[in-house]
Amino acid sequence: MSIYAKCSNCEEPFERLFKFCPNCGLSVVGEGYTDHAGVAVRDLFNIARSFSSVLDLEVLLKKISNAVERLTRSEASSVMLLDDNKEYLYFKTAGGEKGNLVKTIKIPSGHGIAGWVAKNGQPLLIKDVSKDPRFSASLADDKSGFKTRSILCVPMIIQDEIIGVMEVLNKKSNAPGGEFTTDDLDILESLSGFAAVSIVNSRLTSDQKNFFANIMEILIAAVESRPRNSMGHCWRVAQASCSIARRLKISGQSYKNIYYAAILHDLGYMGVQRQARERSGSVSYEKMEHQHPIIGSEMVSTIHLIEGCAPLIRAHHEMWDGSGFPSGLKKESIPIGARIISFVEAMEDFKDSFDGENLDEHEVRVRLEQFASENIDKLFDPQIVAAYLVESTAGIQS
Ligand SMILES: [Fe+2]
Ligand SMILES: [Fe+2]
Repeated sequence: MSIYAKCSNCEEPFERLFKFCPNCGLSVVGEGYTDHAGVAVRDLFNIARSFSSVLDLEVLLKKISNAVERLTRSEASSVMLLDDNKEYLYFKTAGGEKGNLVKTIKIPSGHGIAGWVAKNGQPLLIKDVSKDPRFSASLADDKSGFKTRSILCVPMIIQDEIIGVMEVLNKKSNAPGGEFTTDDLDILESLSGFAAVSIVNSRLTSDQKNFFANIMEILIAAVESRPRNSMGHCWRVAQASCSIARRLKISGQSYKNIYYAAILHDLGYMGVQRQARERSGSVSYEKMEHQHPIIGSEMVSTIHLIEGCAPLIRAHHEMWDGSGFPSGLKKESIPIGARIISFVEAMEDFKDSFDGENLDEHEVRVRLEQFASENIDKLFDPQIVAAYLVESTAGIQS
């Protein structure tokens, strides 16, 4: 037996081992016999693989739509989602040549085929839309110039909640039989399940990001409301620390740790105050100053997402020559991220010391550069001062 088969669809020869034609995607079982099973399995594997590699929801839905159009041999497909109040459907993706034109359309729930499916949670297979009273051609067809003849539409349901519908339009005229079948319905139901899961996952991810960003804003506002911290101090420290870190070619997780540690470096002041209240006493300025890095690092070490910045917060007042606190660490025993934040924090404090002098921008910069240079290899790591001076010069030139 030959190890090559000839695709009965596109006539391309291919290795029999592969079970489907790499040119057109149809599978061959035995001589000249084609079916969809091999293609469906391959597409499902491809899409499942995409879940771990494609973070972009639009790209993932496009892949799913392409697969569903190919597998059901349809002219177009679309994914429509219900709005938060379940009052109307809007297009999330729309395939076919004029898909973009329909993206602005909103379909009231219960209206048309898609609206009916969204309201009732049941699939519809309609071979001739002109004979179905639920079909409303005035919506997407008018806008796109597309002429719908047949529709297959299924609800997308997650945990008993209908989140939208997925539909394919017009069986291609050269497809065997020329009509949608229950096999097509099975394929659409399987793939719409993928689409629904990817949509829900993407919503969860963006909700988590929003939640995290909001919590950060609240924490920063609370830290900056303290008398010791001026407005914008946390962001200024983060911005300056990150520009030095980039100059030192720090990237990936180490860079993120510096960013979060710089934003939250003084969080510990709040913890010190709370502890004092619990013991119904007051804390001396000196004790508060020495405790805040330790308490701040303990506070963030319990939050999995940002636990990596705990050692940097703990060491953000250590100094290169060992004169800092809370542990008196020296040189490279201080994490590089903490050395950067400590430098920026010291520069902020120095800047505060001549706050009332009404200096212009140039005079402020000269003083800061002089302070940094005088403390090279004393308070500050030389490579960090060098990176700061380059950044400072670049700031004037830009
Ligand atoms: Fe600070
Ligand atoms: Fe601090």
